[in-house]
Amino acid sequence: MGYVGVVTGACLVRDGHSVVGVDPVAEKVHDLNRGNTPIQEPHVAEMLAKGHQDGLLTASTNVRDGLDGADLVLICVGTPSQADGGIDLVHVERCAREIGATLKTLDPRPLIVLRSTVLPGTTRQIIIPLLEEASGLRVGRDLDVVFHPEFLREGKAVEDFDHPPKIVVGEARPGAGDRLMALYPSGYEAPRFRMTPEEAELVKYCDNLFHAVKITFANEVGALARSVGVDSRKVADVFCSDRKLNISPAYLRPGFAFGGSCLPKDLRAITRLGAIKSIRMPMLGGIMESNAAQIDDLVARILARRPRKVGMLGLAFKPGTDDMRESPYVKVAKMLIGEGIELKCHDPHIQPGRLIGANKRLVSQALGHLESLLVAGLDDLDDCDLIVINHPRVDAPRVLQWLDSGRAVLDLVGIEGIQTRHPGYEGIHW
Ligand SMILES: NC(=O)c1ccc[n+]([C@@H]2O[C@H](COP(=O)([O-])OP(=O)(O)OC[C@H]3O[C@@H](n4cnc5c(N)ncnc54)[C@H](O)[C@@H]3O)[C@@H](O)[C@H]2O)c1
Repeated sequence: MGYVGVVTGACLVRDGHSVVGVDPVAEKVHDLNRGNTPIQEPHVAEMLAKGHQDGLLTASTNVRDGLDGADLVLICVGTPSQADGGIDLVHVERCAREIGATLKTLDPRPLIVLRSTVLPGTTRQIIIPLLEEASGLRVGRDLDVVFHPEFLREGKAVEDFDHPPKIVVGEARPGAGDRLMALYPSGYEAPRFRMTPEEAELVKYCDNLFHAVKITFANEVGALARSVGVDSRKVADVFCSDRKLNISPAYLRPGFAFGGSCLPKDLRAITRLGAIKSIRMPMLGGIMESNAAQIDDLVARILARRPRKVGMLGLAFKPGTDDMRESPYVKVAKMLIGEGIELKCHDPHIQPGRLIGANKRLVSQALGHLESLLVAGLDDLDDCDLIVINHPRVDAPRVLQWLDSGRAVLDLVGIEGIQTRHPGYEGIHW
């Protein structure tokens, strides 16, 4: 019965459910049993008082009192940091043991719902085995366990409970979360996602990482804006008004490094300006290093496969253009050549025989001797040991044809319709 537990309990009693709050801290239990809130959060005190009056709210230090007759058991204990930064699972582990020890004698058995934020793999590799060991039961056969991340914000927790951004359930057994979903009546407009526990566990971290990135980004830009006499709030308003490219899914899919004539140049100019103004911007300053690491890691992965001949599909910095300025694919190509790899490159926008005039000069400037490696068609890549798909300019049948004829394929874009476990296939981040 911390922030998450109390808010959830208060909202559930308001909605007519009967709730037993379990916590080892006797003062909290004492408060709750008198209808008082142990935490401060808008609306929670009134909701708990009313729930107490209606006889829907009780509390106990004993897990057994919470489990008897329960349809759902929500675990919302803390998962703080250890001294080395690692996650401390001592509270969730203790909960799993205590609940497990009580479960055996219960009929019917409740659905166990883990709400605490935990690293990917925790539900399946730690919580489920502990519950099974303590109860002698089998999860998936005798009872079910789901991971159900919490997205509430303190200060607006009740509003977030009523209007969650999304409802996510990680199920070790498909269908395990049916009883939990029934808790959210059709009035909840939030999109619902059912996935594996590991995916749901990472969804929660992905959200919080992004929130941290956004705050840091806004603050670094804010410091820079102030140093040049610009009101960062006006800039932020315009920035946030752009729902097409800025506050949108654009540029948010895992894939390969960025490049081109704008992003690297503009990042360099801004980090240089920050240095001149003595503004510390470690996040913005680290972006080019992170991008370079993507390129180095890809080259290492290609070399680890020990190919003799590599085909690259796509050379321009992005599909649909012939612009090769600061193309990360050109960098990869040059690094592979330097390692003695025989290389063939195909890009439908950069056709070897058809280049003329300024365009030809630009291509040979960007590629140097690589110009001679350009090939005219996809078929020309058929004799390569490894084909790297840089642009989504190929369909699944062609990729399968390559794979089935013994070629290896490294996919940087996520071609639709290929099983990630297909022999010879490797996705960059999947
Ligand atoms: N606070 C938030 O806004 C928020 C939002 C989303 C997710 N989360 C996650 O939810 C989890 C809980 O966060 P919180 O802020 O509510 O934590 P909290 O520290 O406020 O509350 C945890 C509670 O668990 C109790 N507890 C410890 N061991 C117990 C046991 N064996 N049995 C029963 N109760 C026990 C503690 O006494 C405490 O009251 C964390 O994993 C957190 O990361 C928190």
